[in-house]
Amino acid sequence: MALVLSGRKFARVVRSSLLERVNALSGPPPGLTVIMVGDDPASRVYVGAKEKACKKVGFNSRIVSLPEETTEGQILDLINELNSDDSVHGILVQLPLPAHVSVDRIASAVLPEKDVDGFHPVNVGRLWRGEDGLFPCTPSGIVGLLHHHQIPLSGKNALIVGRSNIVGKPMAALLLRENCTVSIAHSRTSNLIEQCRRADLLVVAVGRAEMVNADWVKPGAVVVDVGMNRNSEGKLVGDVDYNSVSSVCSAITPVPGGVGPLTIAFLLENTLLARTRLLT
Ligand code: GUN
Repeated sequence: MALVLSGRKFARVVRSSLLERVNALSGPPPGLTVIMVGDDPASRVYVGAKEKACKKVGFNSRIVSLPEETTEGQILDLINELNSDDSVHGILVQLPLPAHVSVDRIASAVLPEKDVDGFHPVNVGRLWRGEDGLFPCTPSGIVGLLHHHQIPLSGKNALIVGRSNIVGKPMAALLLRENCTVSIAHSRTSNLIEQCRRADLLVVAVGRAEMVNADWVKPGAVVVDVGMNRNSEGKLVGDVDYNSVSSVCSAITPVPGGVGPLTIAFLLENTLLARTRLLT
């Protein structure tokens, strides 16, 4: 039976380490400001969870909720204010944004040193160049989880299914930094199943309920499921058919309790890192 890579348990380990490091700080606690525009119900849940997590580890957090009709210029003005506010170490603009707002312009307005999402082009460049920076939370959490379980990465064939700027592409860059041989597959990939079957490490982030079954997976592979979908019965499931795949792989992340809890834990890590770098 496959090893279950529990993100829930690892996130607890990360949070307790963060709490220790925050208690040992002299000076102000890390400060995170989250900007939310509009009233997307899922975003409201995520933003609430971020605030709760900040409290648990002694961070200052502030949520700025703006109405749907807020202009891009007003959001940019607020970001500029936060960029020059010394008590704010991390700035996160919750996605999705309303259609009249450019995600690219907003991401580029956040000071790279406060960009705890790792979406600013400077941080994207630093990631691909192998330099220090702030990198996207979900892929950083996945690498942290794999390290925590001492899963060897160097020289392994990694396939990432999904090419988003939030998960797929930064995941590829981080695994390249771990000396994996990295491929990215996507909706136009031909022979997707064959490609998947070649992977020692398969990371799936496509948003299609239980798409990957045991036939897609090399025996003994490590499988990371980034998906969060509702199946036809309304149950929360990943992009991977857990019951089928766990009978052939060596290790797998469950849904829920796998990758999900890592995103917030690594947002906190990034905020502490930003605070440390800004004050030294
Ligand atoms: N919405 C869904 N995931 C994310 C994320 O990682 N960062 C931000 N800012 N918004 C999101």
